[in-house]
Amino acid sequence: MKTDYIRLINKEHPLPESYVPERLVDIGLPFDALPGDPKRLLEETAAQAALSLINRARLEGLSLYGISGYRSYQRQQELYTGSPYVAAPGTSEHQSGLALDLSCPEIHMELEEGFAQTREGIWLSQHAPLYGFILRYPKNKEHITRVPYEPWHIRYVTKPLASCLSLTGMTLEEYYAMIICGDRAQIL
Ligand code: DAL
Ligand code: ZN
Repeated sequence: MKTDYIRLINKEHPLPESYVPERLVDIGLPFDALPGDPKRLLEETAAQAALSLINRARLEGLSLYGISGYRSYQRQQELYTGSPYVAAPGTSEHQSGLALDLSCPEIHMELEEGFAQTREGIWLSQHAPLYGFILRYPKNKEHITRVPYEPWHIRYVTKPLASCLSLTGMTLEEYYAMIICGDRAQIL
């Protein structure tokens, strides 16, 4: 089945337990995990986009590192504690291979709100859409995404949709609410 890059994945729209992305690859992104660790995997198109993003940041003297990419349904089940920062199995975008958590040495590779104030975090929020990614869980939209602010979690949605969401300030939930009665091809 062809990858649906703009698929909405959340509590109301979970992935089936059996869902595994078609083309999962480790293309050697700078990662805070050893080769062979499945968390280094991403869907192939998303992986290429992430590599371009991280390489561009590097040219500007910034050190972005992958912390967590693909997570299987079973892995998500192991990690699930009931905390709002960890999605229930089936409801995590990480199962799609299209989501990536990033951090930087300045905050010791942690996933924490302070990332938003680092040079890397600021750059990421400004440049991610140029590479087809959105900051999926923005501040002040927690009541819509139903996930706390996560400045480190980016989601590949293609360049046209990432630009559209970045320009309008819409979350993926708001985008789907808008197009629900229409033809999404007209908007993209
Ligand atoms: N941290 C996000 C919500 C996840 O577990 O997918
Ligand atoms: Zn994440």
